[in-house]
Amino acid sequence: MITQEFRPQQFKDVAGQDLVKDLLKSIVKNPDTAPKSIILQGEYGTGKTTCARIFAKALNCKNKTKDGDNCGVCEFCKSNIENTIYYDEFDSAMTGNVSDIKELKQTFYFDKNLGYKVIVLDEAQLMTPQAQSALLKVLEESNSGIFFVMCTTHIDKILPTIRSRSLKIRFDLINKENIKNNLLSIVDKKQVSINDNILNIIVDRCGGHLRDAHILLDQYIILGEEQFIRLNQSSKELYYKFTIAILKNDNLLIEKIIETLLTFPLYILKRDYEQFVLDVIKVSLKIKMTDNVYLQTIIKYYGDRIFNLIDIINDRKIYEMFTSDKRFQIAMYILVKNISSVKR
Ligand SMILES: Nc1ncnc2c1ncn2[C@@H]1O[C@H](COP(=O)(O)OP(=O)(O)OP(=O)(O)O)[C@@H](O)[C@H]1O
Ligand SMILES: [Mg+2]
Ligand SMILES: [Zn+2]
Repeated sequence: MITQEFRPQQFKDVAGQDLVKDLLKSIVKNPDTAPKSIILQGEYGTGKTTCARIFAKALNCKNKTKDGDNCGVCEFCKSNIENTIYYDEFDSAMTGNVSDIKELKQTFYFDKNLGYKVIVLDEAQLMTPQAQSALLKVLEESNSGIFFVMCTTHIDKILPTIRSRSLKIRFDLINKENIKNNLLSIVDKKQVSINDNILNIIVDRCGGHLRDAHILLDQYIILGEEQFIRLNQSSKELYYKFTIAILKNDNLLIEKIIETLLTFPLYILKRDYEQFVLDVIKVSLKIKMTDNVYLQTIIKYYGDRIFNLIDIINDRKIYEMFTSDKRFQIAMYILVKNISSVKR
């Protein structure tokens, strides 16, 4: 699996996250004066666990680079850090139930003459408040050789007392260019050929989560081009043509497009359709309907309540609010009905 085979082993191989890398490397250069409690927060699949592991390697590598990266070639760097005494990863399901400070302290024992240890508390937001309070005590009392690294996608669920005494480092979504370059370097090493179309599908589909991009690349290598496209193609283009066909009153084309759309996997149809509807709303808004009360209500749903929005739209009357063009209303209605009849 690419996610295992190509998990970066040095900061220099981590895609994007420049600020993160700079901060962690500056700690590697001066570990003794740095804060010992660190929160890595941000989007899933963007490198949090990866960076925590590299951090542990860099802290203890004897030949680290001047800028604070590990050397990548010594025996220690080549070893699997998870099997060493310098690194421990706890699922918060385990530490999450610990309420006794003594118990936690024993778990986290480390002889600081040996170097530095990184203790990762994954999904830290799942720890109970009691466990978090216990952890706070441990943070205050533990020896200077230990770094506590809490990884979380939900920093708001971490106790403010812990948050305020931790260095918070944010992971962003990875931009398209960085994802593309990362994928290209992988296919180069694996000697797999890939064309721009496939590359763009993966970059679009992963939404900035590099783990998802790696999973999609695996899928492409296993399935081959044709199957992969079939599974991951976008129906957006067709929806667009559909709109044009309606505006041109081209019934034959409308029927043909609906037929084609219905051969798509349902999840793709639904996903792209939601986007399509939102685009229609936005366009209608721009044209003339800014003061339409109903539309404003719909707009309130825009965002995370997208599914509610689709439910509302399934009501025929709503189409009249998008546009006064009867043909357009009817066509949207037909399309939705067709899609929902497949669902059942
Ligand atoms: N910035 C990155 N550079 C290179 N590879 C990455 C990066 N982010 C994620 N990956 C890929 O995704 C895999 C998982 O990354 P990682 O475990 O570090 O994500 P995470 O942020 O900890 O996710 P989660 O929040 O789900 O725990 C890696 O093994 C690697 O294949
Ligand atoms: Mg992780
Ligand atoms: Zn090394």
